[in-house]
Amino acid sequence: MTGRDIAVGPIILLGAPGAGKGTQAKLIAGYYRIPHISTGDILRENVAQGSELGKKAKAVMERGELVSDDLVNAMVADRLNRPDTGRGFILDGFPRTAAQAEWLDKMLAQEGRGAPVVVSVGVRYNQLLQRLTGRRTCPVDGKIYNVYFQPPKNDGVCDLCGTALVQRKDDTEEVISERLRSYERQTVPLVDYYRRQGRLRSVNGELPVEQVTEQIFRAIEGGAAAAND
Ligand code: AP5
Repeated sequence: MTGRDIAVGPIILLGAPGAGKGTQAKLIAGYYRIPHISTGDILRENVAQGSELGKKAKAVMERGELVSDDLVNAMVADRLNRPDTGRGFILDGFPRTAAQAEWLDKMLAQEGRGAPVVVSVGVRYNQLLQRLTGRRTCPVDGKIYNVYFQPPKNDGVCDLCGTALVQRKDDTEEVISERLRSYERQTVPLVDYYRRQGRLRSVNGELPVEQVTEQIFRAIEGGAAAAND
């Protein structure tokens, strides 16, 4: 797959915890050479560094609840101010409340960045638990594995760098249940929000990774063309 340095504008990946947003966002971002902005990753970095933001977010994340809109919006604004976002960027895990979506719309309009293409990645609930409990991640390069579906070549170590894989603290059954409840309550309404705006594209996230990626490419390139009409 060769990359394309085209202007794709803002891309939003919507989906439940475990739907494959991070897996797909890394592939799409690599292909278009645009930044992958994961609010979960930025929050986890802040927790690991013990920053003021990390201290505020830590307990909330460990319970599987959502961090406050004000904190997350400010964090995204800060990231979008960096010059690498000019041709486009892919948001993974943001927005996930109505207030975040409205804030983002206003900000994108004010800054003349164009309307986002919103791709909803659908996976049924009974698959999400296995995806999340089986997930392992490389702490060095962020590559995502799954002990059931995408195991590393050698048990427990990253294919790329050989580092021992880790399990996320919020991937326990109890916290996963709360994350799914938060998703149902606060994020599912965004599907309708973007559908009403005519921006929603839906893909089947239960297919093999490469096929999901293909569908997302089609959604993005169709959506970006429509936005430029
Ligand atoms: P965040 O890090 O965003 O977590 P999430 O939304 O719960 O999503 P995940 O990262 O768990 O799943 P994913 O969809 O990326 O799936 P993945 O690709 O890894 O958020 C964590 C926390 O931070 C939140 O709970 C909240 O507290 C806070 N937070 C973050 N953003 C916030 C915001 N905007 N507002 C407020 N709070 C916020 O894949 C999962 C597994 O499935 C992997 O093992 C993978 O290998 C496997 N897999 C992927 N695709 C496939 C496939 N096609 N077939 C088979 N297996 C697959």
